[in-house]
Amino acid sequence: MDTLIDKFSAENISGGELKKYFIMPQERTAQEEFCDKVRTLLSSRFGGSPKAFVHTYGCQGNVSDSEKIKGQLLKMGYTFTSSPEDADLVLFNTCAVREHAEDRVLGNVGALKPIKEKNRDMIIILCGCMMQQKHISERIKKSYPYVNIVFGTFAMHRLPEMLYTVLSRGKRVFLTEESDSRIAEGLPVCRDRGAKAWLPIMYGCNNFCSYCIVPYVRGRERSRLPGDIIKEAKELVSQGVKDITLLGQNVNSYGKNPDCSVNFAALLREINNIPGDFIIRFMTSHPKDCTRELIEAMAQCEKVAKHLHLPVQSGSDRILSLMNRKYTREEYLDLIKYAKSLMPELSITSDIIVGFPGETYEDFKETVSLIKEVEYTSLFTFIYSRREGTKAAEMEDPVPYSEKSKWFKELCDTQEEIASKRTASMVGKTYRVLAEPNEKEGILSGRTQGNIIIEFPGDESLTGQFLNVRVTKALTWILCGELC
Ligand code: SAH
Ligand code: SF4
Ligand code: F3S
Repeated sequence: MDTLIDKFSAENISGGELKKYFIMPQERTAQEEFCDKVRTLLSSRFGGSPKAFVHTYGCQGNVSDSEKIKGQLLKMGYTFTSSPEDADLVLFNTCAVREHAEDRVLGNVGALKPIKEKNRDMIIILCGCMMQQKHISERIKKSYPYVNIVFGTFAMHRLPEMLYTVLSRGKRVFLTEESDSRIAEGLPVCRDRGAKAWLPIMYGCNNFCSYCIVPYVRGRERSRLPGDIIKEAKELVSQGVKDITLLGQNVNSYGKNPDCSVNFAALLREINNIPGDFIIRFMTSHPKDCTRELIEAMAQCEKVAKHLHLPVQSGSDRILSLMNRKYTREEYLDLIKYAKSLMPELSITSDIIVGFPGETYEDFKETVSLIKEVEYTSLFTFIYSRREGTKAAEMEDPVPYSEKSKWFKELCDTQEEIASKRTASMVGKTYRVLAEPNEKEGILSGRTQGNIIIEFPGDESLTGQFLNVRVTKALTWILCGELC
């Protein structure tokens, strides 16, 4: 394994083909110099530590990016606060996946205006997927003059340089071009999930599902090198992390760009070989690239959680084709059948879109029949949201929102029944879970391998340990239990 680490790590790249995929060491040094300059500037201005408020919208990929943003802020001398009123710097890492997500961000940016009027030196930063859209960054430039920095999904590693420009010259900075989509290794990471950690393995998406904005705002697929991933996984394990989630929009195409001669199934096996008591999770798998080889690796690797998040989006072949998903209902169900044959206890979850343009009630009913057939553990369900610039945005969409909402409710009711049956069947069984803190006094939580939450009485000192918990009662979505 050490040969992989030596050969396939961004640290060892000096040029050649790989240069176009990774930020070079000299550019990283330049940012570290900016980091020092910001730190000096801040300490002369503030004396003590200035405070930053960081809020993240969207998926785990964004949460993982925010951990790197916070890592950089920490290095520049900031500490963190949970209230924007208290902050010297407010940063929103935004999501563009649905209109509702964007509206929330704009509402919250509007709410910062009176706060900034009271604290004129406060720095406001907007970044992430939403900012990678031209019409949004232009709107911010014109209508939100109190925002100091806007950067897209490709410029996170240049935060020190941007902050230095604002602090030293008072200039607004907009950095949203897509030309630079290289991976920045070696950024400091500020993790605050205790014994759990996100571990990104790839960025971007090449799939262009017709409804989805992600490929436009996150660029093309690019993978981290296996050596860097394994090194990070080993570090996490040695720091006491016991639950690692590998992240990517389409983890099954890991290792293709650049070609690292290690595919996702092989990567899983390598991580599984790292000594230690920990769980490996991953998301998201695209059904068109989910291979039997991967399912076999899942079944054989004892540390890999027996949970597959495999978004189907729709049960109708007509809609799947309009969505450009590149698989049929039958192919999807075959995959599920194979996975269940190797892992009878497998927990399967999915994402569903209701009311795609042109979807009829008959199409929708096929989705309902599919979810009954698969018997998912849980679903993330969404009503279709029109995204400017995508293929689906140009399609006829005659069904009114009120009708789609009725279908949505029908879907949720059906899933609720399936979930209740599953949780009820778990009563009396014992599961090994990683103890996590819970908001309720004297209660801890844990997740089964299948990602179902069990709440149980226990002392806070047990958090971060694997415990055996017997299920005593089932609610629809979660379980109650007691320590064995
Ligand atoms: N890469 C992942 C999903 C990323 S986005 C995958 O392919 O499965 C997470 C989910 O948001 C998607 O699975 C989809 O169900 C939903 N989604 C994406 N675009 C949407 C849109 N325009 N309207 C409604 N839901 C959407
Ligand atoms: Fe969006 Fe499809 Fe890519 Fe997932 S696979 S991020 S749904 S385009
Ligand atoms: Fe949203 Fe960007 Fe993730 S659009 S869902 S934060 S990749």
